[in-house]
Amino acid sequence: MRYALISDIHANLPALDAVLADIDARGDVDAIVHAGDLVGYSTFPNEVVRRLAERGIAGVAGNYDSTVATGYKHCGCRSETPRQEELAHISYEYTLRTTNGASKRALAALPFSLDLKPMGGHLAGPRLVLVHGTPTLNTVYWTADRDDAFCRKMAALVGLGSGDVIAFGHTHKPWHRIVDGIHFINTGSVGRPKDGDWRAGYVRLELGAGDPRVEFVRVEYDIAATIAGIRAAGLPEDFVTFLQTGGKPA
Ligand SMILES: [Fe+2]
Repeated sequence: MRYALISDIHANLPALDAVLADIDARGDVDAIVHAGDLVGYSTFPNEVVRRLAERGIAGVAGNYDSTVATGYKHCGCRSETPRQEELAHISYEYTLRTTNGASKRALAALPFSLDLKPMGGHLAGPRLVLVHGTPTLNTVYWTADRDDAFCRKMAALVGLGSGDVIAFGHTHKPWHRIVDGIHFINTGSVGRPKDGDWRAGYVRLELGAGDPRVEFVRVEYDIAATIAGIRAAGLPEDFVTFLQTGGKPA
């Protein structure tokens, strides 16, 4: 089975559409699944929720999705400076206000995790487990510098074995590691990368009888359209700079 794994779209419809166009053009993907954070920061939350529904793309609840769906006091994002915290609140307040009832109900219905059997549930074979952060909480950052012991502990929580895959997002920085034959894939971010590359990111995963094959893809998108939306909404210019620099403002 060939999957496209997408995550952290964050209301960036032009980025999502560019990724979907790239997947469609290749013509070899059997299923697209998402690892959450559909909304926040950019200005197309309802359009992104609708697009995923139109395309029948299943996925899990990111911290942004579950906090907006439950009307929580904060997006559950970690801020490293007072300015970041201020921006987080501006984005969250905007998203709570502009995400409509139908979208909030769709976000509320997202499961915490997905468990897929690419060869079919009628056969033994590898599993693909999808979460946003970790199998414990969607707010925990599973960064590339987490040690093997952490990866083993998380894999054990969902009963993974050699040849299985767990995919997640949340950090907006893609990475892939194999521990005890288990593949750990951080898919990066479609709509708000933080690795210094502004282009939308996603993962192609081939999973079945052989070894899992993982490929990271980056796609240029109409960033001017996303920026126009941010400026028209009167959101801070910081959000524009963030997108332009791939999360590395000067
Ligand atoms: Fe995110």
